[in-house]
Amino acid sequence: MPNGVRALLADPRGHVVLVGLMGSGKTTVGRRVAKALGREFVDADHELVARSGRSIADWFADHGESAFRAAESDVLADLLSRRESLVIATGGGVVCSEANRHRLGAADSTVVWLRATPEMLARRVAQKGPKPERPLLADDPLKVLRELAEQRDPWYAEVADLVVDVDPVHQSGEHPKRRLAALVVEKLQEVTTDAAEEER
Ligand code: S3P
Repeated sequence: MPNGVRALLADPRGHVVLVGLMGSGKTTVGRRVAKALGREFVDADHELVARSGRSIADWFADHGESAFRAAESDVLADLLSRRESLVIATGGGVVCSEANRHRLGAADSTVVWLRATPEMLARRVAQKGPKPERPLLADDPLKVLRELAEQRDPWYAEVADLVVDVDPVHQSGEHPKRRLAALVVEKLQEVTTDAAEEER
């Protein structure tokens, strides 16, 4: 086990929460980070679907986005109140709620923003094809992602303890998700070490 991971395990700083726009890699990277840290991984959207028995597409189509946002906030609050330290991948819109931003700013979680440009995300979305769990990207993903980035980037910045830039990792070779996860773990180790030194 790398020393950094050992240090983080010895001095965990609450939940690790991944935020960022759709397609930035929160779920895949989060799962890998959880494995490296020996923690449970929870994808908040999957949790919402499992609890409600309703797909995200159904939430949007049958109940509307605001009902989905309320359910999303409930799931977030619930996950953050869990005693064991989790790695949590959130849905891209979790920062739209001021209450959620306040929750994420609380000291018992470390928030990591996977920051990616709308252009890169739109290219990846186009490669993978449309996904029913992302109804907001059904038409003109690039336009929507640009609008979402403009609106949300200040909110991601507000809640983030750490920022990891996704584009350069995708541009520089094989296994980008694996390298992104390693970067996240490295940065978590740095903050953990800094925090431990401050306390000394
Ligand atoms: C959304 C992001 C999606 C999902 C829903 C809305 C958003 O999650 O919660 O489609 O508003 O950005 P991912 O970011 O995991 O794709």
